[in-house]
Amino acid sequence: MSNLVLIGAQWGDEGKGRIVDVIADKVDVVTRYQGGSNAGHTIVIDGETIILHHIPSGMLREGKLSIIGNGVVVDPGVLLDEIERLRSAGYVVFDGNLKLSDRAHVVMPYHKDIDLAREESLGNIKIGTTGRGIGPVYEDKVARRGIRVSELIDKESLEKRLRSVLEEKNLYLTKVLDREPIDFERVYGEYTQYGEELKPYVTDTSMLLNDLISAGKRILFEGAQGVLLDVDFGTYPYVTSSSAGAGGACTGTGVSPTKIDHVFGVVKSYTTRVGGGPFPSEVSGELGLKLREYGAEYGSTTGRPRRCGWFDSVAVRYSAKLNGISGLALTKLDILTGFEKIKICVGYEYNDEILTNFPSSVEVLTNCSPVYEELGGWEDELSNLAKYSDLPPQARAFLDKIEETTGVPIFVISLGASREQVIFLKELFS
Ligand code: IMO
Ligand code: MG
Repeated sequence: MSNLVLIGAQWGDEGKGRIVDVIADKVDVVTRYQGGSNAGHTIVIDGETIILHHIPSGMLREGKLSIIGNGVVVDPGVLLDEIERLRSAGYVVFDGNLKLSDRAHVVMPYHKDIDLAREESLGNIKIGTTGRGIGPVYEDKVARRGIRVSELIDKESLEKRLRSVLEEKNLYLTKVLDREPIDFERVYGEYTQYGEELKPYVTDTSMLLNDLISAGKRILFEGAQGVLLDVDFGTYPYVTSSSAGAGGACTGTGVSPTKIDHVFGVVKSYTTRVGGGPFPSEVSGELGLKLREYGAEYGSTTGRPRRCGWFDSVAVRYSAKLNGISGLALTKLDILTGFEKIKICVGYEYNDEILTNFPSSVEVLTNCSPVYEELGGWEDELSNLAKYSDLPPQARAFLDKIEETTGVPIFVISLGASREQVIFLKELFS
């Protein structure tokens, strides 16, 4: 048995989809366990870019089973669109290689309306959500008024649930948020159609996963977002509404922690964040713009420009500790070519004190200044290198410094978007 969780160890967009695609080769099943269409996992194959929001990135490897677990919140229109796009790109997607949990919660039109209206009303203290209804749908799940996939595919249950929920939602939309009410018939018609189309994929994925594990199959749990956006451990309230860390893999799939053997973290060679909230190693001015341009740092879900900064070891060490991360996948090392100096944040200065642990307070995080170690940069193009020993000494020193300051070994580095542009430094399951 060797089941592994792969999570983002920063603020999302670390390149999780890209790394899952690389290691999906070594597993039988890839499952998502949290988040929804707020995720945008980008994979480039033969020059063609594919962005996945719900479907695990393992779908792009032939013969792998993809599972959307109970902890995911599903926007059925977006999911069906994703299936269509994959098919037109030549991938085979059918009820034999894609399974959707009957317990997953469904994103409804009012969730998106509420998300957008609330953000608008927050003005310059808004969270900067993706506008996909993520907060409101998880709220409904916890408040026990959500609609699950099992109801979506059953017309009578959907009618009953939608009628009762919509009454309250329309009051809230019109009286509190000053929005238009939502028409029952329109939503009911649209969603029963979605239910019919998705029905073949729906099953009890927790039973399925446990049976697969018993049969000796290897499972990869694909995290979305990142630890610093986790609802408990992220920079609250500037977080997403789910458990993006490794713990979410168990609650979001119905697989016991005793069945999980490894947790790996994906980190970018620098840091990015999209949306509001503290970001201690953020770099402003020309240097920040240079990172954005070199790294093409624009959101794959919303197209928003990402905020950019240096690698933050304090944050990654925190992520690693909380989640038991035993190996890092480091992406976009090639992007750092052409920077005269490269910095790594190793502490936060706050009120004349140096903090080396990630603080829980947004107030502290917002008002601290980063303490950097500075390394020499390199001019060599890295994207075509095949071996670790081909890397310039400055790049190797950078990798060493990351391992030393985060306390976690790097097992793979990525030097570009295509499948070949990776160098494994260590055996994955050693
Ligand atoms: P992947 O899986 C980066 C951010 C949003 C916002 C906050 C809350 O591609 O790494 P939400 O819509 O979830 O309520 O927004 O979380 N966010 C992400 N940032 N990558 C993501 O996903 C994200 N998903 C949500 O920008 O700051
Ligand atoms: Mg993304």
